Amino acid sequence: MPSKKAKLSKTVLANVKIRHASEEYLQQIVKLSEKLGKDESAMDSMITPLPSEFQSPKWILKNIKGENTIVFVAEVEGKIVGYSLGWVSQPWGYKGKRGYICDCFVEESYRRYGIGKALIENTLNWFTEKGVECVEADVYSANVPSLRLFKKFGFKEVFKRLRLTVKKP
Ligand SMILES: CC(C)(COP(=O)(O)OP(=O)(O)OC[C@H]1O[C@@H](n2cnc3c(N)ncnc32)[C@H](O)[C@@H]1OP(=O)(O)O)[C@@H](O)C(=O)NCCC(=O)NCCS
Repeated sequence: MPSKKAKLSKTVLANVKIRHASEEYLQQIVKLSEKLGKDESAMDSMITPLPSEFQSPKWILKNIKGENTIVFVAEVEGKIVGYSLGWVSQPWGYKGKRGYICDCFVEESYRRYGIGKALIENTLNWFTEKGVECVEADVYSANVPSLRLFKKFGFKEVFKRLRLTVKKP
């Protein structure tokens, strides 16, 4: 008899659909973004475990609807199990347009089936159509799955953020 994981693997691989997000998915994306926020808070003592503006329906809807912003969702049998969120802009001092991947999240039980890779692939294709010169993402040094995922696409480290924790008297 196939294991639960093998059964899910077959279902996921056969049924995952990557779609441009629309407003109907908003609540499901908000829930996933709250989980991403909690993951980040567990990795970084400066990040609050409480929902921030980045998890607000208003912010996510703005990114779903914007001309230079993009949200993809991964759907398996009618359920949203992952999403990515990014935008195109020309930051101050940059010579050309940059794609920025702000969020990429896959529900824990759906990880390691290629969904994160599919979300990033779709986002990169969309950025290319928008004429960007580079794509960037901020990733915690301890986030090995995410670092490996981005490096698979050829992303290289260009920046290190240093932090001094100030001791209170
Ligand atoms: C990072 C994340 C999106 C990856 O999603 P996923 O669907 O599991 O990734 P995929 O199955 O598409 O994996 C693609 C590649 O990423 C790397 N990878 C993914 N998970 C990994 C893990 N646990 N350990 C090591 N490498 C991993 C591998 O190189 C993998 O390729 P392979 O399967 O051929 O070895 C997922 O782990 C996640 O949601 N993490 C929490 C949120 C987060 O940290 N997001 C990134 C910052 S915004």
